[in-house]
Amino acid sequence: MNKKILLDELKKNMETDEGLPLFGSATLVFGEGDPEARVMFIGEAPGFFEDKVGRPFVGRAGKLLGKLLADIGWPRGSVYISNIVKRRPPENRDPLPEEIEAYKPYLKKQIKIIDPKVIATLGRFSMNYFLPNAKISLDHGKPVIVKTKEKSVLILPLYHPAAALRSTNVLKELEKDFKKLPALLNLKTKA
Ligand code: URA
Repeated sequence: MNKKILLDELKKNMETDEGLPLFGSATLVFGEGDPEARVMFIGEAPGFFEDKVGRPFVGRAGKLLGKLLADIGWPRGSVYISNIVKRRPPENRDPLPEEIEAYKPYLKKQIKIIDPKVIATLGRFSMNYFLPNAKISLDHGKPVIVKTKEKSVLILPLYHPAAALRSTNVLKELEKDFKKLPALLNLKTKA
């Protein structure tokens, strides 16, 4: 079936799932972009501005994400952007393990529908979701092939753009790592 229809259905299911943490206290920020995208960016959780408009990465970190994409020649709408936890934790606190766990089945389905070749994780929460033992300062920019039963996907751990707004060194690393993305699309990941 059409990926857009499947994503719309998944979003509807999330909107009515009262068992999800943060239900009723924050806006659902499901994710956006090209359902056929070959690259999916996954952040941590929505912040203040995302909660206001129901779209991911629209604040200062989002503007930087858009610039990094533009610098490698990719329009924002050509990729898919989402988060591990899809509602804003109060005061932008870190997502709790039980929140990550509760949103996991939806994220899994979202990834299964989009079926990207590359997942670029933004920040340590997203990285550790796929690579539990990885350390962002050591492992950023190092692509890893993660195999499931029938698929393989390339994970590229990236620093979170919000961290790059706080440190010029992190920004330089993030810019360098971003430039690796186009070549990853041409890499053969299956035997
Ligand atoms: N930070 C995130 O991790 N996600 C957003 O959508 C916005 C800021």
